[in-house]
Amino acid sequence: MTKIFISCALPYANGPCHLGHLRSTYIPADIYARYNRMAGNEVLMVCATDEHGTPIAVKADAEGKKPIEVAKRYHDMIAEDIRSCDISLDNFTRTTDELHYKISQDFFKYLYDKGLIYEETIQQLYCENCEKFLPDRYVEGICPVCGADARGDHCEVCGRALDPIELVEPRCLTCGNTPVIRDSTQYFFKLSHFQEPLEEYISTNEYLPPNVRNYAQNWLKEGLQDWIMTRDMKWGIPVPLEGAEGKVIYVWGEAFIGYISSAAQWSRKTGIPWEDYWDGHVVHFIGKDIIYHHSLFWPAMLLGHDCKLPDDIFAGEFLSLEGRKMSTSKNWVIWVADFVKDFDSDLLRYYLTINAPLNKDTDFSWDEFQRRINDELADVIGNFLHRTFTFTNKFFDGKVPEYKNPSEYDLEFEQSLKELPDKVGELIAAMKFREGLVEIIKTAKKGNKYFNDQEPWKAVKEDMEKASNCLYLSNQLCKAMAVLLKPYIPNKADAICDIINISTENTWDDAKVFLEEGHEINKAKPLFKKIEDKVIAEQKEKLYKNLEDSDSESKDKSNKKDSKESGKDKNNDKGSKDNDEGEKMDLISIDDFAKVEIRIGKIVECEKIEKSNKLLKTQIDIGDKTIQVVAGLGKRYDPEDLVGKKVPVVTNLKPAKLMGEKSEGMIMATESAAILTPDDCEIGELLM
Ligand code: 2FM
Ligand code: ZN
Repeated sequence: MTKIFISCALPYANGPCHLGHLRSTYIPADIYARYNRMAGNEVLMVCATDEHGTPIAVKADAEGKKPIEVAKRYHDMIAEDIRSCDISLDNFTRTTDELHYKISQDFFKYLYDKGLIYEETIQQLYCENCEKFLPDRYVEGICPVCGADARGDHCEVCGRALDPIELVEPRCLTCGNTPVIRDSTQYFFKLSHFQEPLEEYISTNEYLPPNVRNYAQNWLKEGLQDWIMTRDMKWGIPVPLEGAEGKVIYVWGEAFIGYISSAAQWSRKTGIPWEDYWDGHVVHFIGKDIIYHHSLFWPAMLLGHDCKLPDDIFAGEFLSLEGRKMSTSKNWVIWVADFVKDFDSDLLRYYLTINAPLNKDTDFSWDEFQRRINDELADVIGNFLHRTFTFTNKFFDGKVPEYKNPSEYDLEFEQSLKELPDKVGELIAAMKFREGLVEIIKTAKKGNKYFNDQEPWKAVKEDMEKASNCLYLSNQLCKAMAVLLKPYIPNKADAICDIINISTENTWDDAKVFLEEGHEINKAKPLFKKIEDKVIAEQKEKLYKNLEDSDSESKDKSNKKDSKESGKDKNNDKGSKDNDEGEKMDLISIDDFAKVEIRIGKIVECEKIEKSNKLLKTQIDIGDKTIQVVAGLGKRYDPEDLVGKKVPVVTNLKPAKLMGEKSEGMIMATESAAILTPDDCEIGELLM
């Protein structure tokens, strides 16, 4: 018996859970935990909400609430999301819990006392109006690399991590003023000090999956840099050092400790020391975006604290939605709470597991969801269970029949049943969750074939022994599936146990124990209903509608913002003669006009954008390259009308996304969406 410490990455308490969280982290962790408990190992599975950090503080400011109120609201939602999907956590706490504060501060202090955390003066943005330094997301501006609007620490368009002082035209998110650069003293963790031991850890740890090892090795090659461990803000865990008033521990400097504080809270409740589990086998389940933090930063913190390192870090790759990257800000997302309103969460657990191995990015598509549920869960597993139970009830008085003089075929089928529990168990233990489920489905398919081949409906009249052997073995497969499906689809597995009339509390090896002849089963109940086309159509409609709503909302917002900002400029410039004139006539200077680059392009491809009645996606040859432009010309033109047409195109617009499609320019057209056709011009020619 092994003790296993399982952690799930701590979700930020600034939004509810969506399907991506479940797929990368919670479902795999739960399958692993449930399997191990059934296999006789002692499991401690913990999680918590990650409640500090600037996004939560910014959200609270925007809502006029305290950060703790926002965090509590999302903590409750997330707890419900996790519960609704039957993720069997042993403890779920919050990083605002008092115990977490204490353990985190002690941890910080320990590293400081050992000289692994040091002070250094750096430059940071400071808002003189708000009288505060502006950490990460308290500042916005323009990305110095790609020119897109960017948050303080990150540009979503080019994906770069940014230092806020690099931003062009930075502005304070709270008051809109331009911050200044000031010296500021912060605390740094000596990550660089751990380069060698981390190289050793990453290259020798036999459990680490290739994606984690490869990412970590690439970063190690670049050389590790020390990590800033503090922030100047109120929301967070105060730095436990004299002279550090007003500073809090950076959220990534304490979030990991949530694994320990959640376990410690569990120990307080149960009286069982969590440390024994940490001394056993430690597995962190995370999403791939936080491999760096878990494979390097956290192990370094643990090394600094003389603690044992995690044995395994399992990083689930990303889930896209209908072929596009999920985006909560664009509402291109499916929230767990919405999903479970309409479907049994086991269907989601099934689909997200079977869809692709976790070390590959994959897509959630409603059609594919429907196909898998209908063709696999309903037609293969559900059908096998149903026909076995109804037949047993109808022809064998609801009792598992006798097994006598088995044929070669019976023996061969029996053999595959007997091998199934070990096969699936080994795969789950090796984190091959999808493969384990595939084995179960393969065997159920085999079961359906066996049932068809044996034709018990005929055999009951002609060869009773054949019919009864067939139903004996079919019931055994139902029982094995009831046990083996439990880590994957726990509710459905329990429902199968109820029909078979066995306990729902089984060990893994119970899957190998055959039901006795004469064992009574209950009446069949439909377990897996097929999902109708119209249900899927409704879901898709809802999803695309969300997207359109958010597109028009953001357009509204940017229109309002533009008018507000130009209003502000006018006020600031009052008294200037040139601008007085400009104000009256709304004129622009020739220099303003010269900023717009217009070229003649030729539309070489054009297609409709599904779900939009006016947007067309065009590829436009502008001489030295071809760009993609999404244009609202679809009400007036069919795509084929436009192919081959020359049009003036604005070619230096900031790229944008419309209905999820990149648009790199603008076709010039009239208000009624009529294009201008400069047939006499050359492709690529610049308009002055
Ligand atoms: O990336 C995230 O969602 C973080 N909240 C994960 C923290 S996991 C760990 F550090 F606890
Ligand atoms: Zn400010």
